Order: sequence, then C-alpha cells, then structure tokens
Amino acid sequence: MNEERRDFLGKALGGVAGIGGIAALYAAKRSWDPLPSVKAAGFTTIDLSAAEENVLHVDKWRGKPIFVLKKSADMEPNDRDIVIGEDRFHVSIGLCTHLGCIPAYLPGEEKFKCACHGGEFDTSGQQTFGPPPSPLVVPPFKIDGTKVVLGEAGPEYEQMKSAGITA
Ligand code: FES
Repeated sequence: MNEERRDFLGKALGGVAGIGGIAALYAAKRSWDPLPSVKAAGFTTIDLSAAEENVLHVDKWRGKPIFVLKKSADMEPNDRDIVIGEDRFHVSIGLCTHLGCIPAYLPGEEKFKCACHGGEFDTSGQQTFGPPPSPLVVPPFKIDGTKVVLGEAGPEYEQMKSAGITA
C-alpha cells in the first residue's frame, strides 16, 4: 500500500470512529437526560411524572450522581423500590459500592455495569456480579405527590431503614 492510500484510509477510519463516538455520546446524553428537578440547600426535588420506563435518568444530589429508573412490568418488584401510584422507581446514589466508579445502565440487558472492575447490579440496585460488596445506596428520600425529595427522610425511607435495606 502506498503512503497516500494509507493516509486516506487512516483519515476515513478516523472519520468513522469520530461519527461513532458522537453517536455514542448522543445516545448517552439521551439516556442521561435529567428529569425536571430543583436543587436547594442540600435537597434535590425530582419530578418523576415524566420518567420513561427502562430509561436511566441521572440527576445530582449533594454533588453525587443520582440514578432514577422507572421500572417496567417485567422488572422484579423489590422492597428497595420507590412506589408512586402504580409506578415503581429505582432511585440510588450512582456510585459503585466497590470503589466508587459510576456504573453505566444497559437498557437492553436491564442492568447496571461498572466498567472499573466489571461489577453488576440489577434494576433494583442489588449487586449480582463481581466485586461490589453491597447494593447501590438509596439516598434519604421523601415522596411528595409525583415528586421525590432527596435529602429528607420520609416514612417510606424510614421503613427501608428499619428493614435494613439502606443505611
Ligand atoms: S468500582 Fe465498580 S466494580 Fe470496582
């Protein structure tokens, strides 16, 4: 292969990789779009009414990523779910309980996977594979209509706490 052709191929492949990278970023952004939320003095209030099933929304509470996943009917109900009307939500601090990386959500496989050491969590945040020693942490929350207020411990959170589901 002569130099010119190799150069052309290199550029073409680079271009394809670039487009792939942008598509991946776009897909990540789409699935990481936060829900409408308000942050004030250590509290984050997230309106769950616009959440779509099996789409991970990522918000922020006290500088930490927060995962919000509306569960679909095929996902196992769990005592860690936040229940609003007929809907079940998984809400957790989005940090792997092994060494604190941010796991990715794989909607096709309906699980969280941590790229750092391969740890996996199900849609309830329970660790299912790899080194994570415990489930994703449920932050203190209070349910307010279709909203969830993070940073305030409501009765549902207290119930989880006394059942040993969250610290
Ligand atoms: S930090 Fe997630 S598996 Fe190690």
